[in-house]
Amino acid sequence: MAMVCLSDFEAYAKKYLPKIAWDFFAAGADDCSTRDENILAYKRIRFRPRMLRDVSVMDIRTKLLGTEISFPVGIAPTGFHQLAWPDGEKSTARAAKAMNTCYIASTYSTCTLEEISAAAPGGLRWFQLYIHRNRAVSQQLVQRAEALGFQGLVLTADLPYTGKRRDDVRNGFRLPPHMTLKNLEGAFEVCKMSPLDPSVTWNDIYWLRSLTHLPIIIKGILTKEDAELAVRHGVQGIIVSNHGGRQLDGGPATIDALVEVVEAVQGRVEVYLDGGIRKGSDVLKALALGAKCVFIGRPALWGLAYKGEEGLQDVLRILQDEFRLSMALAG
Ligand code: FNR
Repeated sequence: MAMVCLSDFEAYAKKYLPKIAWDFFAAGADDCSTRDENILAYKRIRFRPRMLRDVSVMDIRTKLLGTEISFPVGIAPTGFHQLAWPDGEKSTARAAKAMNTCYIASTYSTCTLEEISAAAPGGLRWFQLYIHRNRAVSQQLVQRAEALGFQGLVLTADLPYTGKRRDDVRNGFRLPPHMTLKNLEGAFEVCKMSPLDPSVTWNDIYWLRSLTHLPIIIKGILTKEDAELAVRHGVQGIIVSNHGGRQLDGGPATIDALVEVVEAVQGRVEVYLDGGIRKGSDVLKALALGAKCVFIGRPALWGLAYKGEEGLQDVLRILQDEFRLSMALAG
């Protein structure tokens, strides 16, 4: 099967993954209107292309908080990569390093932070945090990540509780017994309720600040009001995200929310976006509307499901080629 665009990887993953894993990756909240809107919104945005502008040489590199990456697409944090490929997050880390881009490793990884670091030494990695009810667990994770050379701390703000994903409920989704949330071993089992703390507020940014020297990036911002609060609380970056439509259903597409966030921030911190990026031209639209970089969630999982780190590299390479071509054709 020739893999030409990201939808080809999606079709492959849908065909070959066990249904329960596919459903978990694909899920959106409720009737998935925000998940689907993330993609539809790109189709409504049109370019005003310019001609005859010498596009024979193009530079698609960018910098994330000062560190250069090969093109403005990184890997969003997603959990449970071993559901897609046996080596799990180790493969993800290798692919990101090979393509010289940033990988945000999830709290819900099925490999330890140590295994992820050792798999691709020197790669650019950020650690994504969900704040645990037992703050000592989160503190220890943050400090472990910093000691291992992770270069940013991404606080996910949109998951005080997990959204209602109907297929996961129907399937009784849970990790197979041979997979565990390696970074939370022990800490998880003792909790009867969700181990994540729904009482987190903006003040907790100060608490995080006191734990680490890493830059803090807040993920899950969708309004100008929250963007302003994020800047005021001293974060270094904002990821405009609705969790791939897996949390609150009925919120805006991220590409639509981006504009007001960028306007509010006025260049004081870097603004990124994730959600619905499926083509190089989507990347260009997000950049044109003010994002410094975008991140892919599900497409990375489809790449892993296809051929592990090689498959993920294929996904990134296709996006890179499409992005370069869109830039050229848009002048
Ligand atoms: C996610 N996402 C996510 N976000 C996060 O901060 N921590 C996590 O552990 C996860 N886990 C997760 C699992 C799966 C299967 C999906 C699909 C998503 C959200 C993710 O970081 C990102 O916001 C979206 O995936 C972006 O949308 P696309 O690219 O999937 O359309």
